[in-house]
Amino acid sequence: MSKKVLVATGGGDCPGLNAVIRGIVKRAEQEGDWEVYGCIESYNGLLKDNVEIVKLTGEKVSGIHIKGGTIIKTTNKGGPFHFPVKQDDGTWKMEDRSELMKKRLENLGIDAIISIGGDGSQRISLELAKMGINIVGVPKTIDNDLSCTDFTFGFQTAVQIATEAFDKLVTTAESHNRVFIMEVMGRDAGWIALHTAIAGGADVCIIPEIPYDPAKIAEKIESRYKNGEGFCNIVIAEGAKALDGKVTGHESTTIGYEHIRLGGVGDKLKMELQQIGVEHDIRVTVLGHLQRGGVPTAYDRILATQFGVKAFELVKAGKFGNLVVYNHPNIEYVSLTKAVEKPNLVNPDTSYLVHTARGIGMSFGD
Ligand code: F6P
Repeated sequence: MSKKVLVATGGGDCPGLNAVIRGIVKRAEQEGDWEVYGCIESYNGLLKDNVEIVKLTGEKVSGIHIKGGTIIKTTNKGGPFHFPVKQDDGTWKMEDRSELMKKRLENLGIDAIISIGGDGSQRISLELAKMGINIVGVPKTIDNDLSCTDFTFGFQTAVQIATEAFDKLVTTAESHNRVFIMEVMGRDAGWIALHTAIAGGADVCIIPEIPYDPAKIAEKIESRYKNGEGFCNIVIAEGAKALDGKVTGHESTTIGYEHIRLGGVGDKLKMELQQIGVEHDIRVTVLGHLQRGGVPTAYDRILATQFGVKAFELVKAGKFGNLVVYNHPNIEYVSLTKAVEKPNLVNPDTSYLVHTARGIGMSFGD
């Protein structure tokens, strides 16, 4: 009888998810005695009243490595331990459906799960592993904030998209003698901002790991102008904090969404600069979800394919409770416990990228 592995994509979508799925299916098919299934919309396919899983065949995944998004859908709300259920009075209650999920896995004859997701999803993987579920994780996120792996897939694509957008803003800033502030994603990590700023040649890069002082940024801006002529380009990470240490965003009202929805720090910085007397025309562009969509770069397709193949091989070898990682030049694995121990943030004191940026005169607003 065939063995069965169930694949789930969790959290925000990310370029390269489909390439991982394709890698898993193609590698599994070589064995002859494995079937691969996809759980629709993360684990919701097992948690909702009606089970929704699909068989993934070589034919079904053919050519999907170049497609953004995920063919099996995803969600960053809820999960097996906090599943939102609408009550008769219209309110929502979070239910622990993890035992139901385990039972359904048994009934379906699923031998193992491959969970493709970021830190939140891998924390869930760890809890499921503790319940005795055979699970292997694959690190996904444009934020690159998972430690233990050199890179997560999706990150390079986000940086490429942000850099291309930044290049366009540079020419318009120069033509109009403007200051441009471009806000990028990344949550608490400044990786997307830092990489984009270096690739794009930004004058200022503001990241969550280095609290910024608007006066220092104003100084840098003025140094870029002479007799009213000049321009200045700033990249700011959505999780950036001024000296007060506060992030900009709002509590989400979406049921089951546990994060603060970050956004607006670019506009905040514009206001702060104006308040301290910067008179140049300042414009703000928020890239938002453009960074997560579309075709993955070649780099991400390759990394994602390697992750997919390795994830299946770990399942086949029975090496559960682990996360696939990239440790250049090899694809290896670490325990889920270790993988979620601490986030991967920019270390301002030791990062060679920060050193490089400062070396070319970039300001971090500190
Ligand atoms: O974690 C990926 C990410 O794109 C973050 O950079 C961003 O803060 C968040 O997800 C946005 O989530 P949502 O799509 O729910 O708005």
